Amino acid sequence: MQFEFDKQVLHLYICSMKILVTGAAGFIGSNLTKKLEQVYPDASIVAVDDFSSGIKENLKDFKGVVLNGRIENINFLKTLEGPFDVIFHQAAITDTTVTDEERMMDVNVFAFEKLLKLVDPQKTKIVYASSAGVYGNGPVPMKETQVLLPLNAYARSKAKLDEVAMDFAAKTGMTIVGLRYFNVYGPGEPQKGKAASMIYQLARQMIEGHHPRIFKYGEQDRDFIYVKDVVNANLKASNSEASCVVNVGTGVATSFNKIIEILNAVLGTDFKPEYFDNPYDFYQDHTLADTSSAKGKIGFEAKYSIEEGIEDYVRNYLIS
Ligand SMILES: NC(=O)c1ccc[n+]([C@@H]2O[C@H](COP(=O)([O-])OP(=O)(O)OC[C@H]3O[C@@H](n4cnc5c(N)ncnc54)[C@H](O)[C@@H]3O)[C@@H](O)[C@H]2O)c1
Repeated sequence: MQFEFDKQVLHLYICSMKILVTGAAGFIGSNLTKKLEQVYPDASIVAVDDFSSGIKENLKDFKGVVLNGRIENINFLKTLEGPFDVIFHQAAITDTTVTDEERMMDVNVFAFEKLLKLVDPQKTKIVYASSAGVYGNGPVPMKETQVLLPLNAYARSKAKLDEVAMDFAAKTGMTIVGLRYFNVYGPGEPQKGKAASMIYQLARQMIEGHHPRIFKYGEQDRDFIYVKDVVNANLKASNSEASCVVNVGTGVATSFNKIIEILNAVLGTDFKPEYFDNPYDFYQDHTLADTSSAKGKIGFEAKYSIEEGIEDYVRNYLIS
């Protein structure tokens, strides 16, 4: 199934523009970078990554400039000619089991703050990746306005990031859009290992002929969103005239048991889940996005249902 990007967004970018993507060799960053190149062929695109969790392979057909650098040393941007029209900031420590709070804040928050101070608030728009992790085990559906209950260092860094971004936008007038991604799955994630999506982990096990292993009793549910929808949310956000932080989810939660059912249907298998104890005490048992703000503020709605997303992912990327 093929979905088209919004014509309104396309129209805005007809003239040549300058785009920076940080974390461009990672899962979401690489999907975004390649789509930007495809949709806006005249744009000059600079991709930055330190390859700590991203890989060169993810950008192998990308024709723009790839800079191997850490966002903490973002001063090198000054050496690049002319201001960026849009910066898509995806770089972050994404392993939610990392407990070094200081390092997490340095990379996920302070480096971004430094980046904000380097750009011209009147010329550059910023779209950055936040996370549904900020809601912790708060009530569902999760609304942007509810009390944040981050459960780990990663989620705390994202909550702080949103605060820093919105303060900066209010003070300078810069347009900054934060996207609270829910559980993203899709091509380009295998190198994330244990941090890759549950859908990838289960599909891999089943493709290799094993029973899928999930935490007891598979009833945890998540708002899983396909990476192609997340890319589209970034494009929509870059068209926004106002700063905001919005959820990027589908508005539908799916249990791990149901994911296995869908994978069995796509793969033509009949694997039963193997249940084991959840070792984590900071686990989000339920995530579900309230999607009304994303729709109202940036015009974004996910187009792939869970069945369509998994089918596209498995057939076109995992078993092809
Ligand atoms: N995948 C998800 O389900 C999900 C959910 C919520 C939020 N997010 C956010 O989306 C963004 C992208 O996540 P992802 O899933 O693609 O993870 P990823 O780990 O594949 O991507 C992060 C990229 O940032 C790079 N990076 C890390 N530290 C860096 C540094 N100091 N300097 C330069 N580059 C650096 C990594 O090498 C990697 O390529 C992250 O900000 C993440 O927190 C992802």
